Amino acid sequence: MLAIRPLAEPERLDVLVLPVRPIDPAAGGDASAELVPAAVTPPDGTTEEAAALVPAARLSGRAGEITTQLRPGLSPGRLVLLGVGDGGESSWRAAGAVLARSAVDETHITIALPAEVPPAVIRGLTEGLLLASYRFRLTDADGPPALGSVDLLVADPAAHEDTIATARTTAAMTRFARDLTNTPSSVKTPQWFADQVTTAAADLPGLRLTVRGPAELAAEGFGGILAVGGGSASGPRLLEMEWHPADARTHVVLIGKGITFDTGGISIKPVPAMKLMRKDMAGAAAVVAATLGAAALRLPVRVTTLTPLAENMVSGSAFRPGDVIRHYGGTTSETTNSDAEGRLVLADALTYAVRQLRPDLIVDLATLTGANAVALGKRTAALYSENDDLAADVLAAVEAAGEAAWRMPLHSDYVEYLGSEIADLYSAPTQGAGSVTAALYLREFTGDLRDRWLHLDMSAPSWADGDQAELSRGATGWGVRSLLRWLAAVD
Ligand code: BES
Ligand code: MN
Ligand code: ZN
Repeated sequence: MLAIRPLAEPERLDVLVLPVRPIDPAAGGDASAELVPAAVTPPDGTTEEAAALVPAARLSGRAGEITTQLRPGLSPGRLVLLGVGDGGESSWRAAGAVLARSAVDETHITIALPAEVPPAVIRGLTEGLLLASYRFRLTDADGPPALGSVDLLVADPAAHEDTIATARTTAAMTRFARDLTNTPSSVKTPQWFADQVTTAAADLPGLRLTVRGPAELAAEGFGGILAVGGGSASGPRLLEMEWHPADARTHVVLIGKGITFDTGGISIKPVPAMKLMRKDMAGAAAVVAATLGAAALRLPVRVTTLTPLAENMVSGSAFRPGDVIRHYGGTTSETTNSDAEGRLVLADALTYAVRQLRPDLIVDLATLTGANAVALGKRTAALYSENDDLAADVLAAVEAAGEAAWRMPLHSDYVEYLGSEIADLYSAPTQGAGSVTAALYLREFTGDLRDRWLHLDMSAPSWADGDQAELSRGATGWGVRSLLRWLAAVD
């Protein structure tokens, strides 16, 4: 990962980046943008040269606007003017992302930060740089040249070390979630996923892990996970991971859908819908990455994370449409569509959390329905909770992290669609509002912790079709940044 360090004196000046901001039109005058005064005076002449470029290049200063001036034979050899908009965290995140992409043929850059540099600026910039420079590649060939190091010129480097470390951990965990999600399903068996998390956790003191295989799952009655995983040559697992610091006051359970590939099962998906179903464990990837992050940052909150892991395949041992499944705890589901598999594994995990773990709060993340994108488009998760405070706290964390979610209704009128003649519940209502009815189904498994539960259907924002700001094409790691913000604020 790209090295980022704060410095009070420039060491190498290959490329010098100077921030530019819009001028408030109310201030009068003709200019629409100006250089942001730097904390550390740039080399002789560069400020004047850059100041003249701002009007000449008709810069507006909007976040992510970028202009490069070549200076052959001089030092620095390039001056880069970077728009930082309103100077807030999200503007700096966007600016950092653009910079990371535009500087890929440079190995080293120096950014002259403003004199007043709050932690949010450092955090946004660092996350933007580290997240946008992410690439997933499985090849022996050399990749394109990548930016290797960034120096941040600031007045007091020591004051920013902690902020940079937090942003680095957040970005590293987001990149870990992206790696897990991008990995092809031929590699990514349920056991492989558990192994990756076990290896990552070994570097972090204080994490406890348990992996249940088919025999343990059968002995304890995890019928949803066993049914969904029954058609695969790579059997299901339930990963349980706990971060339990001595100073914790709140116990949070995180649950993530971990379908390592979703063919739809016997109710098989058509080709276009199946194409990206290796990402159907993005919820599991996000919750394990956030938990590793909580341990790395030593957040004072107890977190128990459950990821039911299974591959939804088509085979002679696959569960069938119309089968009745007995979940952990005894509730039964009629499964008329084997493609509604995520909720079946989540149901087991939710009941286990409610009955055995008795947490204060439960949050689940799942690539649960295609209807998420129908309702909210490609970038926004659907959030469900009956607890207004919990919903507000999570929405605030999502916003601060630069991700997006929208609260959706748990319409009681639609509960009737969950009625089955032969089982307690019907898992796949065919009426509309697919994301809402999936959430209502999950709610049935929250028992007496119903108002302590929050569900995020993040199937849409778990993937980016192309590079966009800090997201690189492919898995986005959606939720890692939001969960870490929320966990840091929970009390
Ligand atoms: N994994 C899919 C949901 C999904 C779709 C995620 C597109 C990401 C992109 C899920 O298991 C599924 O197949 N859901 C069905 C539910 C239906 C059968 C009730 C769906 O959304 O069509
Ligand atoms: Mn499915
Ligand atoms: Zn699925």
